[in-house]
Amino acid sequence: MDLILLGPPGAGKGTQAKKLVELTGIPQISTGDMLRAAVAAGTELGKKAKAFMDAGKLVPDEVVIGLVEERLAKPDCGGGFMLDGFPRTVPQAETLENMLGRLKRKLDHVLLLDVEDEELVKRITGRRTCGECGSIYHLVFSPPPAADTCKCGHKGLDQRADDNEKTVRERLTAYHKQTSPLIDFYGKRGLVRKVVGTNATPDDVFASAKRALRLG
Ligand code: AP5
Ligand code: MG
Repeated sequence: MDLILLGPPGAGKGTQAKKLVELTGIPQISTGDMLRAAVAAGTELGKKAKAFMDAGKLVPDEVVIGLVEERLAKPDCGGGFMLDGFPRTVPQAETLENMLGRLKRKLDHVLLLDVEDEELVKRITGRRTCGECGSIYHLVFSPPPAADTCKCGHKGLDQRADDNEKTVRERLTAYHKQTSPLIDFYGKRGLVRKVVGTNATPDDVFASAKRALRLG
């Protein structure tokens, strides 16, 4: 299954991707995670991306496209992939279409996680993640088993540098302007499977996602 997870910042792309990976074994490819790893490692690409990410703006297409092209060529993507956070602009979507055409592959689904803006702000400002195993928590909606401690035992959960209210609002503006046109782009291709995420728990959303993707 070749799948895209589409949705605004905080919609639950990472949360649902982790559940879908467990169910299907298909790898999650998160451009946000790849860019954060490059920033943390201090690579040239990371240095280029950091200022855009801290400002809540999209990193230039050519930087992200190179990363994805390299990742999709890895053997573990042979049986399918789950793109989380890519594509995010129409040029990125067009490039992906050409890339897949060269590989004689076609997208199966675009899972659209639809959540209202004010709920997104609450979700993002309360998010904490585990630097050890990548688990995603929310201080109120999905609290860790013990304060500041992950289920894997790691102590000291992290807050992302771009998870403050000011930057979240910038990220939402970028989503509505540059990314939401993809709903129409993929809608015309008959690929959009929309799941409503407002006032639904992660498990409720997962149940709807499985139905939408015909996974049972
Ligand atoms: P990226 O890392 O992709 O961030 P994002 O799209 O803003 O999305 P998030 O990771 O913030 O949210 P999510 O949908 O994964 O939600 P999560 O499951 O964590 O990108 C970061 C930056 O990198 C971008 O701003 C840009 O600069 C750059 N970038 C990345 N890709 C790029 C590209 N293709 N082109 C250009 N630039 C790119 O959940 C959020 C919170 O909500 C958690 O606390 C969670 O516990 C909670 N939660 C989840 N589901 C529910 C629920 N159903 N109910 C209540 N709470 C919930
Ligand atoms: Mg994410």
